[in-house]
Order: sequence, then C-alpha cells, then structure tokens
Amino acid sequence: MLNSPLKGVILAGGLGTRLLPLTKITNKHLLPVYDKPMIYYPLQMLVNIGIREILLVTGGNYAGDFLRLLENGEEFGCSLRYAYQRGEGGIAQALRLARDFAAGGPICVVLGDNLIEKNVLDSARAFLAQPGGARLLLKETDHPERFGVAALDGDRILRIEEKPAQPPSNLAVTGIYFYDATVFEKIERCRPSRRNELEITDVNNLYIAERTLHYSILDGWWTDAGTFESLQRAQALVAAGGANHLPAAAAAGDREK
Ligand code: G1P
Repeated sequence: MLNSPLKGVILAGGLGTRLLPLTKITNKHLLPVYDKPMIYYPLQMLVNIGIREILLVTGGNYAGDFLRLLENGEEFGCSLRYAYQRGEGGIAQALRLARDFAAGGPICVVLGDNLIEKNVLDSARAFLAQPGGARLLLKETDHPERFGVAALDGDRILRIEEKPAQPPSNLAVTGIYFYDATVFEKIERCRPSRRNELEITDVNNLYIAERTLHYSILDGWWTDAGTFESLQRAQALVAAGGANHLPAAAAAGDREK
C-alpha cells in the first residue's frame, strides 16, 4: 500500500455517443460491465493502490445518479468528492476541475471507462520515486489507431499521436495517468483540437517537451469500454475472472503489500 499523499481523479463525463442508444437515458459509466456498474472498476483500481481521497468529475443529465450510487465512497473505503463538468470539452478540460482538489500535490487520473486486470501499485511507486513530471501506462494493442499511441526511442517517449492513421508503434496510451501539480498549468497552455476538445495527449506532449514524461508497460489485460465492441470485450474479460474489481474487503491483502 502507498504511504503517500497521492490523490485520485476519475473522469466520467462525456455523452457516450458511440454507445447510443444505451446512453440516451444514462451516463456511459453507469452501464453494467458484467455484474457491476462500469464506474466501480476505475474506483476500485484507485482504492486498490491505497488512494483514499478521490474526486469524480462528471456532467450531463445524470450526474446525480453517481451520488445515489456511490454516495460518499465509504462502501469502497475512500472519501469521494464530486465536480460537475459543463459541456463536453474533453479530458483535459474535465481534469482542469481537479485543480483545487489536488491542492498542489500529485494525482493519479483514471478514465471512467478503463478496466484493468491487475494492480498498478508498482507504477504508482515508480511515479512517486520520480523527481516530478508524469508517468503513463502503455499497453500493446492490436488496434493502436483507436487510441493515443507512443513513439518510443528506447526508454524515452519521443511523442504521442492521438488516433493516428499510421501508428508509430502498437503501444496505446491507457487512460491511467500520474501527474505532478504542473499538469494544471500545462492544461492552461493547451488550445482546443480539431474536435474542439482540450486533448490529454497535448498535455502529455508538453511533459515530453520538458523531458519529464516517463512510462511503465501495463501488466495483465487492459480495455476501455466506450464502444459496443470494447464494452463486450470488457464484459467477457470480467466474466472470465481476474479483474481488478474486488470489493474493498477482498482487496485488503493487496493493500497490505
Ligand atoms: C482517450 C484518449 C486516448 C487514450 C484513450 C484510452 O480516448 O484521448 O489518448 O488512448 O482515452 O482509453 P477516447 O477514448 O476518449 O477517444
């Protein structure tokens, strides 16, 4: 378990248009993934590395449902707070709302539709041992064109390309990010992309320019669940067992490591 001030941020906004009509009357992150609502998995991922203070950023018409479902986080062994994102301005715009919550400290940011098999405690420790900067978790994928993709030169990330037609590698940038407090000043330097969003990839490229972006390769399976295909994949992986979705009590052994 971490003995550090690391706080957690879950980003669970957006319209989920790729999942219409499932998302017509609810938020994507409240849809079921096998036996639990999708949002449980990133929440448990943070709790499993010992994070106890978590901010959930959401928006749209169903924000109140998160409060009814997760309440104050006690059931998960954490203290949960909420922020409301107006409109759909992208991942970096949602993260901007976490500035006061972070209060100058380091954060672990997770996209609400990302599920993993194992624990990311080693990566969290590696990040906290860095002098500052950021750390990404990369994972080999058969469909890099769907994600942010890292171009590597040995141990160094040269650049990240968002949904490239010709991917420079098969290493996707997963939706699990460790950032120091300079992330908020970097977000302010970003301009809206062609799809009119503040892109997290632009923020990560600013860390690369400073040579303070590091990475780990994620162990075990990883999937997002934002399309019909990936949602079905997530269901199958969780149903087959081994997901990082154990309830707090069952995960206690891990936290004692
Ligand atoms: C986002 C990021 C992308 C990342 C992915 C991980 O894409 O922009 O860089 O690889 O999450 O799930 P989105 O799923 O919002 O299109």
